[in-house]
Parts: sequence; C-alpha cells; structure tokens
Amino acid sequence: MLGNFSYHNPTKLYFGDDSLKYLKDELKNYGKNVLFVYGGGSIKKNGLYDEIIAILKECEKNIAEVSGVMPNPTSDKLNEGVAIARENNIDFILAVGGGSVCDYSKAVSVSVNCNDDPWEKYFIRFEEPDCKIIPVGCVLTMAGTGSEMNGGSVITNHEKKLKIGHVFGDDVMPKFSILNPKYTMTLPKYQMCAGIYDIFNHICEQYFSGEDDNTSDYISEGLMRGLIHASRIAVENPQDYEARSNIMWTATWALNTLVAKGKTEDWMVHMLGQAVGAYTDATHGMTLAAVSLPYYRYIMPYGVKKFARFATEVWSISCDGKTDEQLANEGLNAMESWMKEIGLVMNLKELGTTEEMIEGIADATLILNGGYKVLDRDEIVNILKESMN
Ligand code: NZQ
Ligand code: ZN
Repeated sequence: MLGNFSYHNPTKLYFGDDSLKYLKDELKNYGKNVLFVYGGGSIKKNGLYDEIIAILKECEKNIAEVSGVMPNPTSDKLNEGVAIARENNIDFILAVGGGSVCDYSKAVSVSVNCNDDPWEKYFIRFEEPDCKIIPVGCVLTMAGTGSEMNGGSVITNHEKKLKIGHVFGDDVMPKFSILNPKYTMTLPKYQMCAGIYDIFNHICEQYFSGEDDNTSDYISEGLMRGLIHASRIAVENPQDYEARSNIMWTATWALNTLVAKGKTEDWMVHMLGQAVGAYTDATHGMTLAAVSLPYYRYIMPYGVKKFARFATEVWSISCDGKTDEQLANEGLNAMESWMKEIGLVMNLKELGTTEEMIEGIADATLILNGGYKVLDRDEIVNILKESMN
C-alpha cells in the first residue's frame, strides 16, 4: 500500500432486525424540531411511517414532514425542503428511505442556513459548507448507495440536464444510521437488483485503479465475492433474510471510504451513468449496468493485470496457461453472465435513451482521471453508442 491517508468515519450504525429500537436513544441527543423526510409512499404501505411517527411522538418532538422525495432527487425539490426546514426552525433531519432520501436530506442539511443558491454553490462550484449544518440521521429502506455512511449527495437539475454528486465531509455524514434488512424486503425486485449492481460497481470503481499491492483491493475482492453469492440467493428468494442482510452490510462497506484508502479511484462508470440519468431519469443502478461492459472492455488493455486478477480472485477462473488478456476477457464474460442472470438492464435503449441524446449525454459526462485510461469525448461517445443495444 503506497498511499498516504487518514481514516475516520463518524457515522454510528445500528444493524439488525431490532435496530429501530435505538432510534429513541439517538433522538434524545438532538433538538425538538424534527424534519421527517421520506419518499413516494413505500413507507406508508409497509407500516414504517406509523412506527416512526409513534417514536417521534413518544420523544415529544415537533414533527414537520417533507414527503415525495423522488428517485434522483431534484434541485427544485431541494428548494422546497429547505423552505419547509426554515419555516419550522428545524434542529434535526430524519431521513427514512433509500439513497435518494438520504442524499436529499444531506443536501437540505447544508442549505437551510446558507444564503447562496444550493445547486450553484454545492453542485456547480463544488464549494464546502460555510454555514451551520443541520444534523441528519437515517433509517435505511434500500441497500445500494452507501449514502447511510458517506458524505455523498447526488442532485439532478432537469432544466440544466445535469445530475451531479458532491461528496461532503465528516460533518455532513449521517450522525447515525439504522439498518434493518427486513425493511428492504418490500423493495420491488427491479430496485433490489439495481441496488445490488450499484454496490458491485462502487467496489469496481475503487478496485480498478492503481498498480500497488494494496490491502483495499483484497477487502474489495472479498466484498465482491460475498455480494455475488448473496445476490444469487436473494434473486431466487427475495425473502431470504441472511442474503438480504449480507447485501445491506456490503452496500455500506462498499462506499464508506474504507476500500478507497490508498487508491486513486476510477468512477467513470458513475459519471456516464449519472449523465444518462440526467437525460432519462432512469434507475441509478441500471444506468451503471447498461454502460459497464462497453466501458470495462474498452479500458481493459490499459489495466490488463488488474482485470486478470479480477478474473481469478473474484470469479475463480483458473489461470492455467492463459495470458493476462485471455483471463481478463474471461473475467468480464463471467461478470456479464452474472449481470444477465440477476436480471439487470444491459443496454441504454431499454432505459429510454435515444440516439439523439448521445451527444448531450457525452457533454454532461464529467471526465475523471483516476482510472486506467483517461477518456476523451470521442471515446465517451463511442462507449455510449456501444451501450445502446
Ligand atoms: O419513494 P419510495 O416510495 O420510498 O420508493 C422508493 C423508490 O421508488 C423505492 N423503495 C425504497 N425502499 C423501499 C422502496 N420500495 C419498497 N420498499 C422499500 N423498502 O425504491 C425506489 C428507489 O429508491 P431510491 O432511494 O431512489 O434508490 P437508491 O437507494 O438506489 O438511491 C438512488 C439515488 O442515490 C444516488 C443516485 O444517483 C440516486 O440519485 N447515489 C448516491 C450515492 C451516495 N450518496 O454516495 C452514490 C451512488 O452512486 C448514487 O449515485
Ligand atoms: Zn452508485
């Protein structure tokens, strides 16, 4: 491991099927006025909404609500939440939902006391908060993004056709997150699988970089193997608690900064996927699935040794007599078979992308330089075209 780094993660986790009982203790640490943030209604259907309201009342909190936080939350919705938080003089934000609700709550938390336009400040100029930040706690209902233990917040601006993430620092990360795998059981299969691929790709984005012998890569390989195993069980039987709980825990560790330590990190699949999301509003994990193989097959020659290692260590492909390139190809083929097996969307057309959108999506793709190959715009267009069918 050749990098220099510090490591600190301030988010406290409660994990397991009895974890909601700790919410009461946590709420005692914060003020009276709570903003309860949730999505389009899944928590009302599965009863979690009533449980949370009962706990908030028991703790004698004043409750304000922001409901209807959509998948891929928008800048307009952010402004609405900031106004509600200000009107109610909010002391604490409780996010109950998936990554969208958690990301959104963080964006509200840094905007309530900020006089600037939050979209411009945080998502265009990438400035850090210089105002009082409202603390956030999460009750997670979908495994995928890792938002429950990171500083990430991804906001979409439909007018500008941009979907941009800001990774905030320790003071914006959730103070605590409650992870009950049972809550994920009501997820539609499409969302469960999208979440599984999001997790897998977060690990890939950090794994496919660097050439040193790095502990982070060994941890990543273990996480990927465990996830592949659990995904197969969960797809067969979504009610398998053990598999769902392994998926949930893997999601948290896939993107809470641990496996990025000592790495440069790639993140180009996410940049492509987010640009597709800005144009189509498609499910995040599926946008990643659709562009991944054309991207990895294109950059593979620039990082062939790592792709060969991916084949042997993650997909258990035997080396005997094979070149690195053969192994690398076999690894990506095994990944493709698994992706199809669990039912991921493998092309952009199915997500509503049209040929006419490609140039605009390429313009909306941020180019990063931490992976094995820095792409230029023509290469981005080619990868998008290859991802169409
Ligand atoms: O809105 P409701 O009704 O709750 O329905 C949601 C939504 O339709 C539903 N859902 C969630 N939990 C459920 C459930 N339905 C039934 N039962 C449950 N238990 O699932 C749908 C998707 O939810 P969403 O929160 O949008 O999914 P996800 O967790 O994948 O979050 C996606 C957002 O996170 C961003 C993405 O870009 C996207 O905007 N990301 C955040 C990251 C971070 N913070 O680090 C990193 C990721 O790479 C990602 O970019
Ligand atoms: Zn992701």
